Amino acid sequence: MKHVLETLEQRREAARLGGGQARIDAQHKRGKLTARERIELLLDHGTFEEYDMFVQQRCVDFGMDKAEKIPGDGVVTGWGTVNGRTVYVFAKDFTVYGGSLSETHAQKITKIQDMALKNRAPIIGLFDAGGARIQEGVAALGGYGEVFQRNVLASGVIPQISLIMGPCAGGDVYAPALTDFIFMVRDTSYMFVTGPDVVKTVTNETVTAEELGGASVHTTKSSIADRAYDNDVEALLQMRRLIDFLPASNRDSVPEWPSFDDSARIDASLDTLVPDNPNKPYDIKELIHKVADEGDFFEIQEAHARNIVTGFGRIEGRTVGFVANQPMVLAGVLDSDASRKAARFVRFCDAFNLPIVTFVDVPGFLPGTAQEYGGLIKHGAKLLFAYAEATVPKVTIITRKAFGGAYDVMASKHLRGDVNYAWPSAQIAVMGAKGAVEIIFRADMADAEKIAERTKEYEERFLSPFVAAERGYIDEVIMPHSTRRRIARALAMLRHKELENPWKKHDNIPL
Ligand code: HXC
Repeated sequence: MKHVLETLEQRREAARLGGGQARIDAQHKRGKLTARERIELLLDHGTFEEYDMFVQQRCVDFGMDKAEKIPGDGVVTGWGTVNGRTVYVFAKDFTVYGGSLSETHAQKITKIQDMALKNRAPIIGLFDAGGARIQEGVAALGGYGEVFQRNVLASGVIPQISLIMGPCAGGDVYAPALTDFIFMVRDTSYMFVTGPDVVKTVTNETVTAEELGGASVHTTKSSIADRAYDNDVEALLQMRRLIDFLPASNRDSVPEWPSFDDSARIDASLDTLVPDNPNKPYDIKELIHKVADEGDFFEIQEAHARNIVTGFGRIEGRTVGFVANQPMVLAGVLDSDASRKAARFVRFCDAFNLPIVTFVDVPGFLPGTAQEYGGLIKHGAKLLFAYAEATVPKVTIITRKAFGGAYDVMASKHLRGDVNYAWPSAQIAVMGAKGAVEIIFRADMADAEKIAERTKEYEERFLSPFVAAERGYIDEVIMPHSTRRRIARALAMLRHKELENPWKKHDNIPL
């Protein structure tokens, strides 16, 4: 018996070495951890249960039948816990054929995907891989197809998170693209469908891997990645933090953590957050931080479309999604990027039963040919659609401007906002005073005195929350300092909200 126990331990030892010490050293030299080291950091200590450690590739082409059979075949899979809650995980092992995906490698991933879906818990993929195992040809492509299909079926049922921790090409970018969130590690990770060499051949562009698909590109320009971190350790610890915000599935309740932050906490500084000058910016994140429990806010897409802020926080220990126009960037205007960013976030919250708290200070949609040619109508409609279809509790606070179509879009009463408050500084109107007066009093434009009078009249009548409040579009005009208490009470009241959309196979959001 002792002998077989020793044999098992030896086989395990060999499997844990992956592609061998030299490749592990090379991985470390590049500032990257190995797949198993990453899993250790991601999960609670000692909770990882590894599956399929002895699975080997079965390819016979291109001399692969004679190649060394490396147990595990380039991916480490299993499950464990994050702060006591179950998560499934797979981590590409770059030391084995560059983490490339073979038929058996794919089977290991799909087994974990199936378990995560059946048992309703989040799945996290740690990517560091060269795409399809070239020697396996169509068997590898088929393997990716199986992974993709499961990504899609799990979408909206369990949270799926991808963390890019090395080079990722081909199928290793499309699988993450189907998940809810993508995070990257700066300087060591990049993602592209085809690498710099292919780009050079096809388009004659000379571009580095970093320029083509590094974290700075994907967090700012392309918006493929939701955030980037400086190194593996920071990224993995932040994934633990994110998991704490997320429910295990679309049927599970919102996670609740102990909070020592009084939900009735008054913040007098909010009474002076909005400047007297309506054209002066202020930082909407200050409001989010002052409203959320312990100021804890996990921002999503921090570096992209910064004119809108999205992310998770908690009120009374329970997760909420915050969406807020940011007056500090482009005056908080809604453009195509901001609309798409917020729409995706709102849909995630709705899919996973997370209440949405919206802070509104928006001068409207961004005018101009660049936006119109870029499809602003369709992209703006995405956000409108997302808010309108959402059935989760929706609490909206207008802090300052809510102009034009953007007023409607930003979780207004008309889109089934449950509780709609405004600060006394709110201005709810079709447009600002200058634009309005120029249009409706065009005949008086030559008379400066008359125009000044008309402008004042417009400002007094329309640039306030009261016209909307008179119609019941705003439930109450509240004191800024009591915002946290008002939101907490609204969310408590809405905890058992029931609302269903008409049956449909699925909707047809303007993609
Ligand atoms: C088999 C691979 C491999 C692959 C890397 N390796 N990619 N083996 N299939 N796809 C092996 C290498 O032979 C090498 O083995 C080891 O992994 C490390 O690779 P290096 O090239 O030495 O590392 P590095 O210089 O860091 O470059 C990493 C890389 C590069 C950028 C990922 O290897 C690369 O470009 N690989 C090919 C990427 C690609 O075109 N994949 C196919 C995409 S198509 P040794 O033994 O020397 O350690 C695809 C189809 C699905 O994925 C699409 C579905 C939509």
